[in-house]
Parts: sequence; C-alpha cells; structure tokens
Amino acid sequence: MPLALAHRNWRPVCAAGVAVGVVVAAAGCGTSGVSPSHADVVNGKKLFAGKATCGSCHTLQRAGTKGTQGPNLDAAFVNARNNGFGDSAIAGVVLDQIHHPRRGSIMPAGLVKGQDAEDVAAYVGSVAGKTGKDTGLLAQVGTTNNASKTAVEKGGKLTIPADPTGALAYEFGKATATAGKVTISMPNQAPIQHDISIQGDGKGPVVGTGGTSTFTTTLKPGTYTFLCTVPGHAQAGMKGTLTVK
Ligand code: HEC
Repeated sequence: MPLALAHRNWRPVCAAGVAVGVVVAAAGCGTSGVSPSHADVVNGKKLFAGKATCGSCHTLQRAGTKGTQGPNLDAAFVNARNNGFGDSAIAGVVLDQIHHPRRGSIMPAGLVKGQDAEDVAAYVGSVAGKTGKDTGLLAQVGTTNNASKTAVEKGGKLTIPADPTGALAYEFGKATATAGKVTISMPNQAPIQHDISIQGDGKGPVVGTGGTSTFTTTLKPGTYTFLCTVPGHAQAGMKGTLTVK
C-alpha cells in the first residue's frame, strides 16, 4: 500500500476527510468538491503529463506516465474505487494533495492553480485505478510524433532540443552522426529540468528553462541510446536512438 494512503480510512464515507482535510470531507459527502462536469479533463491530462510535471513523479496508466518518485496513483486509488468512492471523491483527494502536500514532501505545493488544478484533479479522479485506455480527444493528448523525427549531425554538431511543452520527450526520437568527435547539445525551453546523455558515453549537465545541456564525445560507428538522466524521464519516453556511421 502506498505510504500516503496507508493511514487513510476510506470507510465510512466521510472519514477520508478527517485524515486529509476539508476539501475531501466535502467531496466524500457529495456536497461539493470537484465536479467533473465543470472540469476540462483534456486540459487536466495535458497538464498532468506535461507542464505540471505530475507524471514525472507518478505512474498513471491512462496518462501513460511512469514516474517513480511519488506513489503509483492507480495503486493509490484502486481500493477507494472498490470501496465505492466515485470520480469526484477521488478528484477531491487529488485536489487537496495538489494544494496541501505533506510538509517537507518532495511534491511542491500548487504546481497547478485555480481551474487548472481542478482540471488535473478531475482527470486523475476519472482514470486513477481504472484499466483500459483513454478514448476520444483524451487519447490524443501526449502523443507527439517526435519519435519518428530524426536529428542529423552537421559539422560535428548534433542538436536535440527538449520538447518545449514539458512532455517528457526530446523533439527527435532518432539521430544520426558520422563517426568521430561530436558535440551534442540539448536546448531546454521546457518548464522542467532535463539533460542529455549517451548511454555509456558521457553526459551534459542538468539544465532548467533557457539552458543548454551540452557535451563533446568521440563516437565509433554503432547504435547508441541518448536519454535524459533525470529520474523517471527516460522511463517515460525521454530517450532515442543515435546511429553513428
Ligand atoms: C517531485 C515529485 C512529485 C511531483 C512533481 C508531483 N508529486 Fe504527487 N506525490 C509525490 C510524493 C513523493 C508523494 C507521497 C506523499 C507526499 O510526500 O506528500 C505524492 C503524493 C501524491 C498524491 C497522494 C497519493 C497517495 O498515495 O495518497 C497524489 C494524489 C498526488 N501526489 C498527485 C500529484 C499531482 C496531481 C501532481 C501534479 C500537479 C503531482 N502529484 C506532482 C511526488 C510528486
């Protein structure tokens, strides 16, 4: 059982509020809280998997995120769902966590605010602990076609920018270079920190928005993996294949 939910009693209906706060009490009792019908779950999913960086710490099957620094949100809410808690009650818990993470938690408070926070909470509430796949518009969120694009080295320089939307991806899923000395650069316009490395062959520094992670290495012909070494990012898809000829 994930740490934070271990102390949480999902029965009787309003007890969850005692453990985690007023918002949940309201949601759990069905009076207010997050109303999925007023929330934009497409925006919520975009934020969860992208800019708000929730997915870089949390696994959520439907969102396709595989972060491991925080609890797996499907595992965290599957019991609640089985005990009869609906989407909006779960969304209430998520909203409360967004506003009030445990003091000292690595999860920063207020990553998303106002309506954005409600949208993220409503999305998580509508999918956490459920199997299957998102459908319709939701299915298109987070599917970049970066993976099929190829970055080409020119004059010993290979540039592979981070996806600026905050999705855990580079703008290219493939790269090619000629053997020899090559300088690899990753301009980062994303709202989160990233780096670039070549597995077994050096890495650039972790940089925030506006920075460029860069390093120079000498490559022999072969196939390499380039990836972001920030925990959870490569697992979530921030990696690609470099072919050196
Ligand atoms: C830097 C990593 C990090 C980020 C980013 C992050 N979280 Fe968390 N989250 C955690 C950790 C660690 C916990 C475990 C409890 C704690 O420390 O407060 C947690 C707990 C939670 C919980 C409670 C789960 C449980 O088992 O009770 C929810 C819900 C949650 N996060 C949702 C989110 C959402 C939504 C976002 C984005 C707005 C987000 N988190 C962003 C690390 C993160």
